[in-house]
Amino acid sequence: MSSDIAKRNAAEAALALVQPDMILGLGTGSTAAIFVTLLGERVKAGLKIICTPTSEATDRLARSLGVRIVSPDELSSIDLTIDGADEFDPALNLIKGGGAALLREKIIAEASDRMVVITDASKEVATLGKFPLPVEVNPFASELTRRRIHLRLEAAGLATASSSWRMATRESLLHTDGGHLILDISCGAIPDPARLAALLDDVPGVVEHGLFIGYASEVLVGEADGVRRVLPAG
Ligand code: A5P
Repeated sequence: MSSDIAKRNAAEAALALVQPDMILGLGTGSTAAIFVTLLGERVKAGLKIICTPTSEATDRLARSLGVRIVSPDELSSIDLTIDGADEFDPALNLIKGGGAALLREKIIAEASDRMVVITDASKEVATLGKFPLPVEVNPFASELTRRRIHLRLEAAGLATASSSWRMATRESLLHTDGGHLILDISCGAIPDPARLAALLDDVPGVVEHGLFIGYASEVLVGEADGVRRVLPAG
């Protein structure tokens, strides 16, 4: 099965959740981009909606399709955010940030009444950690911050974790929309994502990390011929 068909099926199911006059958060990544494109078609057909983006890339795409974009600073809350994910577990804990937009994605998700994740089945895992965990780091003292992060990883039972700075090109580091660096951490299985999230939150140079604990209300998993709706287990 093409993952494009699966992603499109998930995006179409998410579109069905959109009501006129909603305030909508727009995620980042290839699946979210399919959703934004479909939303643009609905807007052209007359749907009135206000959106706020989670990245410059999504901002540009949405505006190019005629979707009305407002700054998050104009909003107090958001009705619904539709975003992708790099992994989700049965509790709907997520790893996000494969597209380096995790900080803005988390700010928008936290302010949303509902966050619906759209993915294909390849993102579904029993335990988070196969996908390297992105951590957004302030460029000041970034190597010191990296060492402080590894101390927390050891405390979380992840002493063998390795990390690398994400590159934009062979020679230059990637900078996020906010001007920060991304440290990709190969953790292996993360036994207690909430504990690791709390440990990382405790490092001053960590701007944000890609563990989204308790944000997703549901995941729409695109399949070849439709969508499977996953709610948090337990
Ligand atoms: C962006 O920073 C990410 O959190 C994306 O939402 C995530 O990487 C999923 O992207 P795809 O839909 O392209 O797999």
